[in-house]
Amino acid sequence: MTPRSDTSGVTRSLPVDPIAPDPAAVAQAADVLRDGGLVAFPTETVYGLGADARAPAAVARVFAVKGRPGDNPLIVHVGDAEAAWSWASPTPLARDLATAWWPGPLTLVLDGRGALPVTTTAGLATVALRVPAHPVARALLAAVDLPLAAPSANRSGRPSPTTAAHVLADLGGVVDVVLDGGPAEVGLESTVVDARGLVPLVLRPGAVTAEDLGVAADSTATVEQARASPGTHHRHYAPDCEVEVAPVGQGGERAARRAAAGARVGLLGPGAAPPGVTSLAHPADAVALARVLYDALRAAEAADLDVVVVEAIRETGMGRAVMDRLRRAAAEAATDA
Ligand code: TXA
Ligand code: MG
Repeated sequence: MTPRSDTSGVTRSLPVDPIAPDPAAVAQAADVLRDGGLVAFPTETVYGLGADARAPAAVARVFAVKGRPGDNPLIVHVGDAEAAWSWASPTPLARDLATAWWPGPLTLVLDGRGALPVTTTAGLATVALRVPAHPVARALLAAVDLPLAAPSANRSGRPSPTTAAHVLADLGGVVDVVLDGGPAEVGLESTVVDARGLVPLVLRPGAVTAEDLGVAADSTATVEQARASPGTHHRHYAPDCEVEVAPVGQGGERAARRAAAGARVGLLGPGAAPPGVTSLAHPADAVALARVLYDALRAAEAADLDVVVVEAIRETGMGRAVMDRLRRAAAEAATDA
């Protein structure tokens, strides 16, 4: 099929099939990245859309295929802390956090060394760095030996992908290789921490929790501070159906009420779904809810549901990250409708 361009200048062709991440496939993916191509790969949080972070044209293509605003910088993925420090200056705090949590679902924002293109950093003086833990991500970083700029591999404004199928649904036809590493273990994006000061400042909550970091639960960045993390004010995590967050213990009741009013309703909560309501999943705790949340939102869309009722959970530990994403999904669905 002849590739065609849409109005954004993005060239599309037939979707590639996801491939099993054996050593030959990882080597092929590394070649594609060296040639300026785009590779979707699994991480322990969500799937990333990787490009050579030093190559402005490759990174520009990431922004184009995602439809991502140019003022929202990308996370740069590297194989280890030493590689990270060649792109940004570590503070004593950053070194401690890296020792404790890398490889893992933690991204550190630090003063950059001016060595990455403005396309990658969105012109900021800081750089966000992460050493992922997923064995396929690690194998790819080792094989390519380049810093990989990798946002979540979804179209901008959609729930992050937690499976290769989610990547194809959003980016089939515009990504060169999709490495299939199975479902992501965490299911929500990494914790983003500004590590330039003496104590961690959480810009985006994630699996490395405030408790893990030894910071007060309410120390997550204020709106003013969060402006330094541009992604936090863009539209996010919105499926094509409404998301209603029900109070703890009231998921079934709220879902039944919406169904009685004539809506096609899905329930994501610990209890059984009432008659006429589709049960999406029964996660027992915050960690389980994080793992299934984005898949459930996409499944609700696919089933053409009008509304997903998600039962709230306590905002401790991983519950904080889940509720952060849920509130964004609920707000966006309401305003986008
Ligand atoms: O788990 C994750 O972090 C995944 C996987 C693929 O690693 N990546 C991911 O990337 O979620 P993305 O682009 O969807 O989200 C990156 C977030 C955005 O909110 C962005 O604004 C923020 O990190 N960020 C990037 N560079 C920054 C910087 N220099 N200062 C503050 N925030 C930054
Ligand atoms: Mg994202």
